[in-house]
Amino acid sequence: MANEINNFQEIISHCKEYGFIFQSSELYDGLSAVYDYGQMGAQLKKNLRDEWWKSMTQLHDNIVGIDAAIFMHPTVWKASGHVDNFSDPMIDNKDSNKRYRVDHLIEAYSETLDKTAGEAILIEMDRLLAADDLAGLKTLIDNNKIKCIISKTCNWTDVRQFNLMFSTQIGSVAEESDTIYLRPETAQGIFVNFLNVQKTGRMKIPFGIAQTGKAFRNEIVARQFIFRMREFEQMEMQFFVRPGTQMEWYNFWKETRKKWHESIGIPAEKLRYHDHVKLAHYADAALDIEFEFPFGWKELEGIHSRTDFDLTQHATYSKKKIQYFDNDLNAEGKPYGNYTPFVVETSVGLDRLFLTVISLAYTEEKWNKEDGTEDSRVVMKIPAKIAPIKLAILPLLKKDGLPEIASQLMHDCKQQFHCFYEEKDAIGKRYRRMDAIGTPFCVTIDHQTKEDNTVTIRYRDTMLQERINFADVKNLVINACS
Ligand code: GAP
Repeated sequence: MANEINNFQEIISHCKEYGFIFQSSELYDGLSAVYDYGQMGAQLKKNLRDEWWKSMTQLHDNIVGIDAAIFMHPTVWKASGHVDNFSDPMIDNKDSNKRYRVDHLIEAYSETLDKTAGEAILIEMDRLLAADDLAGLKTLIDNNKIKCIISKTCNWTDVRQFNLMFSTQIGSVAEESDTIYLRPETAQGIFVNFLNVQKTGRMKIPFGIAQTGKAFRNEIVARQFIFRMREFEQMEMQFFVRPGTQMEWYNFWKETRKKWHESIGIPAEKLRYHDHVKLAHYADAALDIEFEFPFGWKELEGIHSRTDFDLTQHATYSKKKIQYFDNDLNAEGKPYGNYTPFVVETSVGLDRLFLTVISLAYTEEKWNKEDGTEDSRVVMKIPAKIAPIKLAILPLLKKDGLPEIASQLMHDCKQQFHCFYEEKDAIGKRYRRMDAIGTPFCVTIDHQTKEDNTVTIRYRDTMLQERINFADVKNLVINACS
């Protein structure tokens, strides 16, 4: 574990050094649990978002995408249950004044125990959480003498519920203003648009509505870099189905989403399912797809069977009818019917997916050269199709017409994929810089190019080099990224 934590610190430093992720407002000493994506990170994040969007909206005939506003009518959050229920049990240490999420505090403690004892305390915690037994959670903390990491004391307050939504005011004059919330999930923007999309898109059940966008949660314990942030991005899809068929679709999406993660290069053995013991107020079944992060197995994506809870709640609060008229029921010999569709949701955090990809990609390599000396590199083995830059184009020298040939290649390729042109420094140094940002291919233009129209292509992961025709470079990269 110690090595893995070190490795995680190195990943964080690497992300900063190579323009993937910066602390927000770093100039002013940063803002806790808020991050900015730099030039490499923004592109990698966009590629992940695009892959997800394509897999949902382009590869499924019955899923469409929308882009709803972050600000929504305040009643939305009353109807959804977030005003009353979107809270976590918290506890404060009276000596350090540090506040903890109870499940995080107990989980961290369980990791210090042996396997059997660690599992036992987590099972007990799950039971108490499922029963909303706040006093029982406090007793569990007291009985195990769990300490605050700052004060090192067990001087705790009672366990209390804290709402995680950020609120703000809309309107410029105080009297006219109203309290609104920054959305804590993108899903509600889909539910309130269910009828708009169904009618204008003439969608037939089963069908899905997908959306990506920012969500905000006032996480009390924000840690582990971009794993738990206060401002983050979700990629959610609500799949509307006939009542009674939800478990079939729940299983379908459980499988489909795990396979999708594998399709973008996450090894199957690094993913697993975790069924929820305590169900959210809206769910009749729920699970997490977990990934083995450098700090342990944690939730990457949630699959939730949300019943008809959300649509029914919005119908009640808005006093509008939100139902679907199912023609096909009649064709099947059943009476015509209006019903409130059930919903199966897939919800993945884009930032967590980003962290997954970079945790897997970050590799330190050392080897002995032919002269016996040691060499090393840090390489980001990001799968080609999501790598921020696909091809580096490197003239060996800044003269003899080599930059002109390289510029020609740049011109040919940049309409198709992201290229990077660089003339400065020795070629070895340039290769290392490309390794560090995960560029899968480097092409070097040298004097031989002028003679026989070939270039040297260097493969990031193996460092192997070979000569190929200048004319074949573009297709080689396109094929590798498709
Ligand atoms: N609409 C359902 C929903 O929001 P969730 O399990 O609370 O469910 C879904 O969140 C996903 O959003 C999580 O699996 C995680 O990937 C991501 N997520 C949640 N809270 C996050 C946070 N504070 N920082 C980063 N990602 C977060």
